Amino acid sequence: MSNNLLKGKRGIIFGALDSKSIAWKVAEHCKVQGAEFVLTNAPIAMRMGTINELAEKTNSTIIPADATSVEDIYNLITKSMEILGGKIDFILHSIGMSVNVRKGRHYTDQNYDFTVKGLDVSAMSFHKVMQSAWKLEAMNDYGSILALSYIAAQRTFPDYNDMADNKSFLESIARSFGYHFGKRNKVRVNTISQSPTITTAGSGVKGFDGFFKYAEQISPLGNASADDCAKYCVSLFSDLTQSVTMQNLFHDGGFSNTGVSEEVLENFLK
Ligand SMILES: NC(=O)c1ccc[n+]([C@@H]2O[C@H](COP(=O)([O-])OP(=O)(O)OC[C@H]3O[C@@H](n4cnc5c(N)ncnc54)[C@H](O)[C@@H]3O)[C@@H](O)[C@H]2O)c1
Repeated sequence: MSNNLLKGKRGIIFGALDSKSIAWKVAEHCKVQGAEFVLTNAPIAMRMGTINELAEKTNSTIIPADATSVEDIYNLITKSMEILGGKIDFILHSIGMSVNVRKGRHYTDQNYDFTVKGLDVSAMSFHKVMQSAWKLEAMNDYGSILALSYIAAQRTFPDYNDMADNKSFLESIARSFGYHFGKRNKVRVNTISQSPTITTAGSGVKGFDGFFKYAEQISPLGNASADDCAKYCVSLFSDLTQSVTMQNLFHDGGFSNTGVSEEVLENFLK
């Protein structure tokens, strides 16, 4: 159902790889709500994923960009403003990758070249995107910038490995840049801390299936779906949330504030 919440708004959406990606759902919902946007992903993801289908479906242009390359980001933002016909109203950063996780390196046995690469892709890229938009004066006043995070930034989930540290850094960048963007342009910057979600990045974490079920049983509303996450993103890109900034917003069915549920407890009473 469309309420035209994003009518007339121009955006850039990072991170749609395939139809399971959270960014894919966000693009679909933004389109329904009347937005126009450019889709972007790393050049290698263009070959692995199915982003072309999404571009066709949402009538949008794809501009490849490695989110760790400031040169690529400058090109992306400059071209996006040309294609969309003006400054940008919203940006979604939906990017995460740990080389240590991918290569099966334990948290206590990191390869630091891998650690630095993962930090650059998963967190510093958020700063690079915002600094580029800042210097290019690319954001419209009252715009909105979002990144996706996970509760491992606050609490330890051992198999989440160095991604926990990357998410802490990501959330801190949102607060720090949010101050400056707020002062200069009334632009808000937030992170959404999403439930475990079955996607390529999510399923790459060891023990994901068990943890997905555990979170489902703990959360009073169950795990928040990618579709619901997309709707939450729409609300944060819309004009209905203009005073929300520098926050890490839990979108997790109540997981973060639940100690234990009856269902989980029952397993220990047998
Ligand atoms: N799936 C979950 O359980 C879950 C939970 C909470 C938060 N998140 C976060 O949501 C975001 C999106 O992940 P997802 O679950 O939709 O998985 P996904 O695998 O569909 O998306 C991750 C994206 O990051 C992109 N990417 C990787 N390296 C890049 C680079 N150098 N430049 C540009 N893009 C690059 C990938 O191509 C991919 O599109 C991530 O930040 C992830 O950490 C996911």
